[in-house]
Amino acid sequence: MARILITSAIPYINGIKHLGNLVGSQLPADLYARYCRARGHEVMFICATDEHGTPAELAAAKAGKPVAAYCAEMYEVQKKLGEGFRLSFDHFGRSSSGRNESLTQHFAGKLAENGYIEEVTERQVYSNADGRFLPDRYIEGTCPNCGYEKARGDQCENCTKQLDPTDLIDPRSAISGSTDLEVRETKHLYLRQSALKDQLEAWIDSKTDWPVLTTSIARKWLHDGEGLRDRGITRDLDWGVPVKKGDQDWPGMEGKVFYVWFDAPIEYIGATAEWADAHGHDEAAWRRWWRLDEGAEDVTYVQFMGKDNVPFHTLSFPATIMGSGEPWKLVDYIKSFNYLNYDGGQFSTSQGRGVFMDQALELLPADYWRWWLLSHAPENQDAEFTWENFQANANKDLADVLGNFVSRVTKFCRSRFGEEVPAGGAWGPAEEALVSDLQERVAAYDAHMAAMEIRKAAAELRAIWVEGNEYLQAAEPWAKFKTDPEAAAAAIRLSLNLIRVYAVLSQPFIPDASATLMGALQTRDDSWPEDMRAALDALPAGHAFTVPDVLFRKISDDERDAWHDRFAGGRG
Ligand code: MF3
Ligand code: ZN
Repeated sequence: MARILITSAIPYINGIKHLGNLVGSQLPADLYARYCRARGHEVMFICATDEHGTPAELAAAKAGKPVAAYCAEMYEVQKKLGEGFRLSFDHFGRSSSGRNESLTQHFAGKLAENGYIEEVTERQVYSNADGRFLPDRYIEGTCPNCGYEKARGDQCENCTKQLDPTDLIDPRSAISGSTDLEVRETKHLYLRQSALKDQLEAWIDSKTDWPVLTTSIARKWLHDGEGLRDRGITRDLDWGVPVKKGDQDWPGMEGKVFYVWFDAPIEYIGATAEWADAHGHDEAAWRRWWRLDEGAEDVTYVQFMGKDNVPFHTLSFPATIMGSGEPWKLVDYIKSFNYLNYDGGQFSTSQGRGVFMDQALELLPADYWRWWLLSHAPENQDAEFTWENFQANANKDLADVLGNFVSRVTKFCRSRFGEEVPAGGAWGPAEEALVSDLQERVAAYDAHMAAMEIRKAAAELRAIWVEGNEYLQAAEPWAKFKTDPEAAAAAIRLSLNLIRVYAVLSQPFIPDASATLMGALQTRDDSWPEDMRAALDALPAGHAFTVPDVLFRKISDDERDAWHDRFAGGRG
């Protein structure tokens, strides 16, 4: 039994996530967490909401709510949706927690002590009317390039030109509209990542087993010089972790907060501490996952994220950990993802394009989405969601293959042998062949799951479901019942046991269907089928079961077309 720490990139608080976000971190992380638990490992699976920064402030302002209240509300929404998708977090925390605040201040203090923080004086736009410094995107004006009147201080949305706020013609505050702006000096803290370059590079070089997607992005940022530039880690905002050196004030930094990307990854640790608090555990309970000197030596730490998050997890966050000079756990493996596209274009939160988590659950239960998304995970290249493909995938794999097997076996048994596992008969060559095929396939499935090769694992699981159908088709217990009832009983006994095996193997992908099957079979034996011969004999003759309701209904062509049209216009 191993100890495995799993984190998913923590979703921004502003708004509900779309299916592309979901399949890029939280869902595959859940698959792996469920698999590791099923294999008997001790798992700590952590996620949280990423609550600080300008996007949160802007979204709250748009919703007409104080930012703290907005975040509290959106946290509940995201937490519920996570539950709806059966994301099995041990804890879903908040980066605005007191735990994250003190850990973030602690890391900043250590970095300063070790000489990795530099104080830099910058010139920045100050709004007298708003009484605050304005981040670039809070300044609006006319684009010097194309004349667009609502260009933002960081970029013109119309012609995409990157801008500096001082480039804008007639600049004004996006908060109040005031033009009473001036440039003032303000001090900020910079993290001297460049001083850690050699250490970071040696560390990345040692990760020879990482996905190419992860290491290629890390190397590009290391060598471009772009990524390892020393970065400002403070902001002139109200909403965020107040800048402190441990629990001491930081002279000259009054009223400032840490940059959201500085405190967000620290929340992986923060949320583990929040987990301990929520369960009444002591400090040691969470520290044994994170401190090498307090038990984390034997922890394997795996992170899941979309490719846009890779630089922060391969360089910035490790720089924070290394620079602290303290024995905190560094990540052991980073599984990163490409993008999921939507029906010929991109998913887009700002345009409301695609299917969002709340909408998906209104249409169909979580398992349908989980199966499509995971079996099409954008691992080696971008993937695309289409309604045709979604319908075909659910109808074939879930309804025709898995659902049909379960329904035929349980209904036939009920009508001929009653609602218990039938006795009599013995395995013949067909059963022996099935056992050895399955033994091999389950080993392959296990290996793909352990390696987080999600598409390959899904394909193998589907093949395992197909084997059962093919066996049943050839064994023909419905025909044999008249000529050789003993053989029919043996085939059905094996098939009922195979349903339990399916429930166990499929649980990480489709947990609700798996629970339904376990309930119908009236068993709690969720042991992994290490030995297929024994696994197919686990439920003995006489063991009672019930016929489950339809596991997966089919998606009709009318539904498919109606959904396609309904989502074509965006969220509005
Ligand atoms: N909120 C970011 C996003 O959704 C991810 C942050 S991950 C962490 O892209 F490193 F900050 F934790
Ligand atoms: Zn422009």
